Amino acid sequence: MPARTGVVPTSELARVSEARYRAGRTRSQALSRQASGVFPQGVSGAAKHFDPFPIFVASAGGSHVADVDDNDYVDLLMGAGPMLLGHGHPAVVEAIREQVARMTNPMMPIERSMLLAERIRGHMPYLERLRFANTGSEATRSAVRVARAATGRRLIAKCEGNFHGSDDTFLVSTHSRRLAGSDARPEPVADYAGLAPDVLDGVILLPFNDVQAAVEIIHHHAADLAGVIMEPVAFSSGGAVPATREFAAAVRAATRRHAIALIFDEVLCAYRMGLAGAPAYLGVAPDLATIGKAVGGGMPLAAFGGSAEWMEAALGTEAGARKIFQSGTFTENPVSIEAGLAVLDVLENEPVLERADAIAELMREGLQRELDAHGEEAVVTGAGSIFQVHFGAREIRNRRDVLRSELERTRAFLLGLVAHGVLWPPIHPAVTSGAHDEDDVELLLEATRAVLSAAE
Ligand SMILES: Cc1ncc(COP(=O)(O)O)c(C=O)c1O
Repeated sequence: MPARTGVVPTSELARVSEARYRAGRTRSQALSRQASGVFPQGVSGAAKHFDPFPIFVASAGGSHVADVDDNDYVDLLMGAGPMLLGHGHPAVVEAIREQVARMTNPMMPIERSMLLAERIRGHMPYLERLRFANTGSEATRSAVRVARAATGRRLIAKCEGNFHGSDDTFLVSTHSRRLAGSDARPEPVADYAGLAPDVLDGVILLPFNDVQAAVEIIHHHAADLAGVIMEPVAFSSGGAVPATREFAAAVRAATRRHAIALIFDEVLCAYRMGLAGAPAYLGVAPDLATIGKAVGGGMPLAAFGGSAEWMEAALGTEAGARKIFQSGTFTENPVSIEAGLAVLDVLENEPVLERADAIAELMREGLQRELDAHGEEAVVTGAGSIFQVHFGAREIRNRRDVLRSELERTRAFLLGLVAHGVLWPPIHPAVTSGAHDEDDVELLLEATRAVLSAAE
C-alpha cells in the first residue's frame, strides 16, 4: 500500500512504540526471559504472548491494572472479556471469599448451581436445559457434540475467522493468516500442527455475513451437517464485527429447514451484549448456545444449553445410543457458582451495561476522530462494549478484510498504546466494563495522539 502523506511511516511507528515499550518495562522483560526457562515462549497460554514480550501484571482494580514496573494502565483487555463489572467488584470478591471458607469442590450436586441455572434461564429462556462447564472451550466442544449426537450427522459448519476455543474443530481457519478458496467459497485451513489428521474433513466453512453464499453452502451439505456454530459478534480473530440480523435470519431459516442445530457461541457476548442474549439483538433464537467469560465474573465458569429436545436427546436419562459425555472434576465448583450469582445480582440491579456501552461508544467515536484528524486510513469496528481498530481499511466485514488490512501498522499502534498506559495488547479487541469512566476515555485519546505523532 503506498505511504500516505503526513502520516508517520509504519516502520517509524513500530520503532518508536517498541523503544518506549521496552524502556519502561525492564522488570517485565527480565521476568519474560526467566519464564522462557520454564514456559515455552515464556507464557502459559499463547494468547498471553505478544512481541517483544508481554507485561507481567502485579495488581488490578476497577478499570485499571498495574505491572511489575509500576506502570499503571487503563485496562481494555479486562481478562479477555470476563471482567464486565470491573476488577475486584466488592460483591464478587465477598461472594468468593465467603464460599472459599465454606467449601470449594465437593464434586457432587449443589443447590446453588441449580438456582444460578434457573436465574440464567430466566434471562435467556432459550436455554431450556443447560449444563455448566469451566471454560468456553469445554462448552463449545459439548455443544457440537450435542448437535452431532442428536442429529446423527458428522459435519460442523463454522464461519471463517470465528473463534470458538481450543478444540480441534475450531482451530480451523480461525487464527491462520493463510486463506484458501474464494471469498464466497472459503476452504478450511488447519491453524496449527497437532490437530487430528482428519479434522479438515469434518469442518465446513461459511463466509461470515455473506447471506447468499452461506445459505447455498448449508443447503449443499445439509444431509451431513449436524450443526452450524457462529459468534454473534466475531471477536478475537474476526475483528470485532457483529453478525448482521439478515445473516442470522438466513442461517436460522436454512438450518431449521434441514433440522441442523444452530449454535450461537455467546461465550464472549453473554451478558456483555445484554442479559437476554443474542436472540434479543439478532432477532432469531438458536437451538443451542454457549456462554462464559462474564458469567463467572473472573472465575472459571461457562455453560452450554438449548432446547429441551436437543439437550435431553444427547444428555438426558432416557436410554439411547446417542448420549454424549460431559463432566469434569471442577465443573459446577461452588466458588465459581457463587461468583456467578453475585455477577447477576449486580447486573440485575445496577446500570453496568449502560455504563460499559456508553464509555465504549465514546472511545470508538473519539478514536475514529483522532485517526481521521491524523490522516490515517483506519476504521474502528465493534458493538456494545466491544471494539477494534483496523489500519489500512475503511470497512471490515469479516476475517478476510482483517487479513487484507495493514496488520503491522495496527500492531505498532496498539503496542504504542500499551507503552503509553493503555492495556490493549495487539492480540485482542478492546472491551470496557462498568468501572470505566470518562477519565479512561481521555487517557485512551491522549495515548492515541501521542502514538500517532510518534512522540518519543
Ligand atoms: C467466542 C468464544 N468462544 C469460545 C472461547 C473459548 O473460551 P475459553 O477461553 O474460556 O476456553 C472464547 C475465548 O476467547 C471466545 O471468545
